[in-house]
Amino acid sequence: MSESEAKNPTFKLVFIGDSGVGKTSLVERTVRNCFNESTDSTIGAAFQRFALKANDNITVTYNIWDTAGQERYRSLGPIYYRGSDAAILVYDITNSASFENIEFWIYSLKSVLGSHIVMALVGNKSDLEHRRVVDYKEAKHFANKNDLIFMETSAKTALNIDLILKKLSQELI
Ligand code: GTP
Repeated sequence: MSESEAKNPTFKLVFIGDSGVGKTSLVERTVRNCFNESTDSTIGAAFQRFALKANDNITVTYNIWDTAGQERYRSLGPIYYRGSDAAILVYDITNSASFENIEFWIYSLKSVLGSHIVMALVGNKSDLEHRRVVDYKEAKHFANKNDLIFMETSAKTALNIDLILKKLSQELI
């Protein structure tokens, strides 16, 4: 690794979770700072690159794979997980099944990558507080137990969006 690569590392990052939880919306908010009320469901996976300053000296580049949550693409997942340094596991705070399925997503990630991966659990759609069904404390407890970074976000209002990659970067560098 050259000195510049050591100082400015590139990491592969996958977004994983049920269909409709807001993976594409989180990526769009992160990369382009925009939000779309009606997104198309991702087919297979989509690739984006994003760089951020982790501190005064280090710029981190992420090669982001936004994977499809739909059941019909599930067998493709491992193709995109391979070689990942980090994963963002997304559920929707208004959809309990999407939270319950996180265990499945962790299992399918670990079956490809073992435990050598930094993972963050993200409860998205926090702007829909009136429709919340997943308790913050329960999710936080689950995250602690499974050694996951945890936060709630809203791709719509941009709440905590910049925190996700900041926190991941702190763990990775
Ligand atoms: P797949 O591609 O099928 O896996 O779905 P996805 O997880 O990428 O979900 P997507 O980003 O396509 O979002 C699904 C729907 O939820 C869209 O209508 C979004 O506008 C909406 N949505 C995403 N994030 C938020 C959010 O933070 N708040 C609200 N209110 N709606 C959101």
